[in-house]
Amino acid sequence: MNITFSKLAIPAQGAAVVVVSEGGKLGPVAAKLDKQTRGTLSRAMKAAEFTGKREKALSVVAPAGSKLDRIVLIGVGNIKTLDAVAAERLGAVTYDNVARDAAVTVIFENASGNLAADFVGGVLQKSYRFTKYLTKEDKDSKPKLKTLVVQTDNPAEAKKRLGTVQAVADGIFLTRDLVTEPPNVIYPESFVARAKDLAKDGVKVEALGEAAMKKLGMGALLGVGQGSDKESQLLVMRWDGAKNKSDAPVVIIGKGVTFDTGGISLKPPAGMWDMKWDMGGAGVVVGLMRALARRKAPVNVVGLCGLVENMPDGNAQRPGDVVTSASGQTIEVLNTDAEGRLVLADVLWYAQQKFKPRAMVDLATLTGAIIAALSEHYAGLFSNNDDLSAKLVAAGQAVGERLWRLPMGDEYDRDLKSPIADMKNIGGPRAGSITAAQFLQRFVNKDVPWAHLDIAGVVWNEKPSTLAAGGSTGYGVRLLNRFIADNYEK
Ligand code: BES
Ligand code: MN
Ligand code: ZN
Repeated sequence: MNITFSKLAIPAQGAAVVVVSEGGKLGPVAAKLDKQTRGTLSRAMKAAEFTGKREKALSVVAPAGSKLDRIVLIGVGNIKTLDAVAAERLGAVTYDNVARDAAVTVIFENASGNLAADFVGGVLQKSYRFTKYLTKEDKDSKPKLKTLVVQTDNPAEAKKRLGTVQAVADGIFLTRDLVTEPPNVIYPESFVARAKDLAKDGVKVEALGEAAMKKLGMGALLGVGQGSDKESQLLVMRWDGAKNKSDAPVVIIGKGVTFDTGGISLKPPAGMWDMKWDMGGAGVVVGLMRALARRKAPVNVVGLCGLVENMPDGNAQRPGDVVTSASGQTIEVLNTDAEGRLVLADVLWYAQQKFKPRAMVDLATLTGAIIAALSEHYAGLFSNNDDLSAKLVAAGQAVGERLWRLPMGDEYDRDLKSPIADMKNIGGPRAGSITAAQFLQRFVNKDVPWAHLDIAGVVWNEKPSTLAAGGSTGYGVRLLNRFIADNYEK
């Protein structure tokens, strides 16, 4: 898609999108277009009872004599309350209405250049499709949109912001690709191979295989992967964008279980295919690294992904096995389906030993219980640090990817007591998301600000949402990009 910004004027051809305020109010340029078409817009609004309510749309055929093909009215509601999140959503709604037009001009009156750029962010996000395995694509549903012009009072401001918007969209697309790929295509080594593409953006990418992880004593992570033919991997990505390359980095960690059968504690067959997206946390980390690199973020960030496949097999770990983690702590594995925390335990330890992080945030599709608690509307936040929590919640609010903090404490931690090892990998039947977080916290030093985001409910949407067609959402890329931009960049 070719995207440009220009000054406000009646478009010469193609489809025109007119942004309409509450009460059917048109801006000066739109009013002129209405006059030129002898009241076509006002008559259409009246006939269809279109009042400019936010995110409502009305398509009008341009009258004979007009050089335009059609005019699409998009309601913006009270434009004074239009913020970045609302502008992005408006862009996505617009995309849904003009995807089958080749050339589209948006008359975006009475809004800043920045909002015009955020609007484009929504257009881009909604334009994502994953069609590589379709051999017969339905021609009637294939999008045609090639050139998009967004008119605004301040095209220079919009243009300046577009670089960031595009970088973040690129990151989201990469995350969505990785998460949507089937599990025979994406497994630990092929995931690493995809991430190596980031070298072109200036990210340093390395991976540790099983031999290297064995040397580091990563018995918890390796135990999960031992029933799989695929070799487990620890992916290490570095973006050193700060002036001072030796500034302590922010470390972002992703759970990358490329398929979670449950292992010997096998999951039931219905819906098991969902577990192809059990690498959603790792997918976000890779997409985030792309976004940071492409917008040349002035900050040092390390991205780590623990990549394993959890399979049942003659060599798989058994319920009851005791493994020794890299931290030295022993774990009784009572349920091989509580594998994400085993993977993260060793990656969290590695992050602290190797990088001395300023702050450490992990993302994981860790528990079904978080879906029961929050559905798809919020991700769960767990942390040892109030300030870090507040920063994450604020970033989520700013981009519309919301977080809800849940409690932690010794009373929950007690559930992890094992009679024969330092801990077991499952708690009792209650508060499963919290006991999972307590398990992770046992691998975090008290003086390291750490947060855990349980994203099991937000990685995948069965139904289309405003910003995504359904399937992988890319949730987390915008959130962490904003969190880093607002708090760690100079
Ligand atoms: N990957 C799952 C969690 C999950 C479930 C994510 C459904 C998305 C949708 C995780 O590895 C898991 O199996 N967790 C268990 C933990 C239990 C055995 C303590 C769960 O939540 O049931
Ligand atoms: Mn599991
Ligand atoms: Zn899992």
